Amino acid sequence: MDKIEILGGKPLNGKISISGAKNAALPILAASLLTNSKLELCNIPKLSDINSMIRLLQSLNATIHKKSGKVMIKSQKPKNNFASYDLVRKMRASFLVLGPLLSRYGEAKVSLPGGCAIGGRPIDIHLKGFEKMGVNFNIKDGYVVGKVEKKLNGATIHLPFKSVGATENLLMAATLAKGKTVIVNAAKEPEIVDLGECLKLMGASIDGLGTSKIIINGVKKLIGCNYKIMPDRIEAGTYLLAVLGCSGCVELVNLNKEVIQNLLNTFSQFKDLDLVEKNNTSILVKFTKKDYKSINIKTLPFPGFPTDLQAQLSAVMTKAKGTSTIEESIFENRFMHVAELQRMGANIVINGSKVIIKGKKKIFGAQLMATDLRASSSLIIAGLMAEGKTIINRVYHLDRGYEEIEKKLSKCNVNIKRIKG
Ligand code: EPZ
Repeated sequence: MDKIEILGGKPLNGKISISGAKNAALPILAASLLTNSKLELCNIPKLSDINSMIRLLQSLNATIHKKSGKVMIKSQKPKNNFASYDLVRKMRASFLVLGPLLSRYGEAKVSLPGGCAIGGRPIDIHLKGFEKMGVNFNIKDGYVVGKVEKKLNGATIHLPFKSVGATENLLMAATLAKGKTVIVNAAKEPEIVDLGECLKLMGASIDGLGTSKIIINGVKKLIGCNYKIMPDRIEAGTYLLAVLGCSGCVELVNLNKEVIQNLLNTFSQFKDLDLVEKNNTSILVKFTKKDYKSINIKTLPFPGFPTDLQAQLSAVMTKAKGTSTIEESIFENRFMHVAELQRMGANIVINGSKVIIKGKKKIFGAQLMATDLRASSSLIIAGLMAEGKTIINRVYHLDRGYEEIEKKLSKCNVNIKRIKG
């Protein structure tokens, strides 16, 4: 297994190109099951999670060609609408094939996604929504088997929680359902808007994207399209936080207007950071002061502070001036990075759904273990901030969601390298 070695303590100076958003690309790839016409998707990030989704779609009789950041995909009727445990267990987002399969073919057998390092991650909100659309489920041998007489019926579905995945699964299913579907208390993440814009290009009738009430009028058929995946706001936010933690000046390029606005809103309370919009596709992140203030923040569904940046922020606050409190309100166990940061000498403790971080002058390099995607990126930031050498083991977690992270960072004048294992 590969490791990453960092000699920390240097400021970041340079330019980082932001890749396409993993959490937009995954549902959009799943949406290809809704038509047998060809989709041509560009700005697809080179990530192991994308490869997992591609393998799953190929097992469902999709023909896929990849060429320099582009993916051409054409789905034919699967021999059996079966998404195996072997393929689904690797990545929870595989569960997003359920909606398209039910909507297109009226039946599906998909492995339960199972929990992961950050919590149980149930799928009850997904299933209750589909039942409102007429699906009968039974759960057998770890599989969800869903069937509907003829076609899905449009329905008004109230989500008890702004679940991103449930909103996406139900949105995709509703595009080919009979009649109108209204998703109330829908999640509003930009990646859902990206999925919806792609579905509209495929011929879907959707209103209210980006609001908590999405209205979909089912159509008979969807067609293929060409679509460019939005930039990854979480990847950009990760590098932006690294600049705060390490000082320096980095230009983040290949963004778009929406993601830039999103970053400016997300980090508006971080007064120590200079965030300057350079043009429609890039932002300059600058921090050159002696130190930065601590912060009290709670993760929330969009447009609140994203849970996917919580671990990275925790790493940065280990060297803030004062005590920070970061509350995780989305997942029940997203603190796997805390023990590792403690091993670096950080003064960080878990108190229920919060971490309390007493900022201090120094943290020190150590041997660390990556556990989940965003925890791993918080260890990268901590290693860049620390004095001395840090070795991060099990970096396959990182490769799920960060394209060539060590290559991008090594262009910013820091000592980081991958040790092939
Ligand atoms: C998506 O996961 C993202 N993944 C996650 O990013 C992200 O952290 C999360 O949304 C929240 O923003 C992708 O888009 C592929 P949820 P998802 O359904 O859809 C509970 C990353 O690091 N819940 O909004 O699984 C659930 O347990 C990943 O890129 C139910 O209880 O998130 C969790 O506590 C990690 N029942 C909360 O809601 C359900 O049926 C949020 O889940 C569904 C969810």
